[in-house]
Amino acid sequence: MATRKVVSVVGAGNVGEHVASLLAIKGFADVRIFDIPRKEGDKVFEPVKGKALDMKQMISAMDIDAKIDGFTVTPDGDGYEPIVDSDIVVITAGFPRRPGMSREDLLEANIRILSTIISKVRQYAPNAILIVVTNPVDIMTYVAVKLSGFPANRVIGMAGVLDSARFKTFIAEELRVSPKDIHAYVIGGHGDEMVPLISISNVGGIPLKDLIPKERLQEIIHRTRFGGGEIVNLMGTSAYHAPAAAVVDMVEALVTNSRRILPCSVYLDGEAGEYYGVKGFCVGVPVKLGTNGVEEIIKVPMIEEEREMWERSVESVRKSVEVAEVMLGEKSPS
Ligand code: APR
Repeated sequence: MATRKVVSVVGAGNVGEHVASLLAIKGFADVRIFDIPRKEGDKVFEPVKGKALDMKQMISAMDIDAKIDGFTVTPDGDGYEPIVDSDIVVITAGFPRRPGMSREDLLEANIRILSTIISKVRQYAPNAILIVVTNPVDIMTYVAVKLSGFPANRVIGMAGVLDSARFKTFIAEELRVSPKDIHAYVIGGHGDEMVPLISISNVGGIPLKDLIPKERLQEIIHRTRFGGGEIVNLMGTSAYHAPAAAVVDMVEALVTNSRRILPCSVYLDGEAGEYYGVKGFCVGVPVKLGTNGVEEIIKVPMIEEEREMWERSVESVRKSVEVAEVMLGEKSPS
């Protein structure tokens, strides 16, 4: 009998916890979660162990056979031994942006966290596939490619599946159809300038642009682009149910070797997979996911309007990558 795959999740905050819980419920892999302790006065809590125990009891109550364990680690990287031989490592660890913190401060703090985690993954699970969730995700995925030294097919950022799910949700509501019958991809950078590929989107095979009037479609695109912000405004914190489900969709494709085509942030080297002028950084494109990670980068046709959106979107990622490169010490500040 084949051994079960092991999926480790580093960062068991809102997103990581829900990834773990959904994975446990789906039951197709053993799950290990890692997080730092929390101090309150003299008391040191180990929430990650408590969450794993709670989830163990949840799956017991649901009559599911799954294995889930939680491990406390330190920000310096102690305690990662149990990540050994993980097939997939999902990284959601990071700081949210706090008042007074610039985007650069956030980037620097999260690069530091990622760097420790990746050095441990290299040490204990050098053959793992990395799924990067920490924002800004296109930049963090690039940083993960650089720091891990892993082949680019084994480093994948989660964004497009979430953005496309949001887009599909709004289209489904508008047309009163099942989201299952909607094929709609959102690619480009995970930001306000993400690119919905209207020209190839369809509902039950019928082009989307024939089903929804242009002005209404623009409103839906706008809501998709700011879908994260809409939730922050309502909850006071960022979304986690849909982001976690998007990660699980990707994990399932990898674990089951389903070869699904999902939009993910991946490293485009500008050579074999020349992708509309992007070279040497990560941005969202449709890819085929299987046992080996990214098995193929799918080059989609784009109409002129989409090309223009794409240029704007990738330009803003390119600029942030330059800032990250300085932080990584690959390039001195100009
Ligand atoms: N090592 C391990 N875990 C860490 C570390 C570290 N050095 N630093 C922080 N963490 C953990 C935190 O303790 C917390 O539990 O990362 C977790 C982050 O969780 P949340 O703050 O709840 O953030 P969440 O909403 O889950 O988002 C995680 O995903 O979608 C992105 O923008 C989002 O970058 C953010 C990430």
